Amino acid sequence: ALIALRQLLDHAADHGYGVPAFNVNNLEQVHAIMQAAQATDSPVILQASAGARKYAGEAYLRHLVLAAIETHPDIPVCLHQDHGASPAVCLQAIRSGFSSVMMDGSLKEDAKTPVDYAYNVAVTAQVCQMAHAVGVSVEGELGCLGSLETGDAGEEDGVGAVGKLSHDQMLTDPAEARDFVARTGVDALAIAIGTSHGAYKFTRPPTGEVLAIDRIAQIHAAVPNTHLVMHGSSSVPQEWLAILRQYGGDIKETYGVPVEEIVRGIASGVRKVNIDTDIRLAMFGAMRQLMATQPSEFDPRKALAAATKAAQGLCQARFEAFGCAGQA
Ligand code: G3H
Ligand code: 13P
Ligand code: NA
Ligand code: ZN
Repeated sequence: ALIALRQLLDHAADHGYGVPAFNVNNLEQVHAIMQAAQATDSPVILQASAGARKYAGEAYLRHLVLAAIETHPDIPVCLHQDHGASPAVCLQAIRSGFSSVMMDGSLKEDAKTPVDYAYNVAVTAQVCQMAHAVGVSVEGELGCLGSLETGDAGEEDGVGAVGKLSHDQMLTDPAEARDFVARTGVDALAIAIGTSHGAYKFTRPPTGEVLAIDRIAQIHAAVPNTHLVMHGSSSVPQEWLAILRQYGGDIKETYGVPVEEIVRGIASGVRKVNIDTDIRLAMFGAMRQLMATQPSEFDPRKALAAATKAAQGLCQARFEAFGCAGQA
């Protein structure tokens, strides 16, 4: 059944687990996530960016998710809009049947220029008023995502502020979070605690703490009834990088957020964990491998089935690691 983000994450908070929010753009990604959820008895957040709606087409995306719900009637599914750049984008998603929307007012509508607090409060409060009137949940964002190691926002995919950020800009302030929640009424809040989008997060193998875990606990204490969201949570598996490289991929040395660090984040109050890049890496690695090792094959289903299987394995591992398994 379709469920709002608020209800889904209330359960996660009551039972102390985190829910991966996987980005979807096509049939194979929806298949992979739903098969992983079925196998592990996990609740699901499917999130679609504006880019996903542009790629698949709004109606196709909606019907893919409706098909998932029909096929898996016992699994709660939240359909969430990722990184809405304006109230208009959020309203389109609500009209399209999304049960949750993100108003990302941490950046201007070009999704690049960091903006002022008053703008963020105003647009996010406006979206909350519209969404809550029809039972749809809202995620806001406060702070600028960025790697604490590189000072880089990770601007691939057109998401993230341009250029280098100061350390202070890169961590969400707990007092400001309390004020933001009071002024907007968001159900969930994306926080900046050292993650960044895309495959290039860290240039060296992460040792010790790579995220500001203490800061998560401080923000959680400041806004105990608002569910914390960690964007940029891909772990960038070295096994998939090795397969990509082995079969012709040109991927520079890079590291992601270790799964154990995400698990520490969940223990400190994170409830929604956004993952896109890891699925891309696994699917593309599996496709490169299939195409290189079976050169006489030309049925696209073979390559896409390999990609689906790779993504399913990855999703299953995250459902289990985050304590989501058995909670559907
Ligand atoms: O945070 C951004 C997500 O990875 C979505 O990326 O805009 O390329 O669909 P996209
Ligand atoms: P990754 O690029 O780390 O997968 O993050 C995805 C994300 O935050 C989507 O909103
Ligand atoms: Na989101
Ligand atoms: Zn994001």
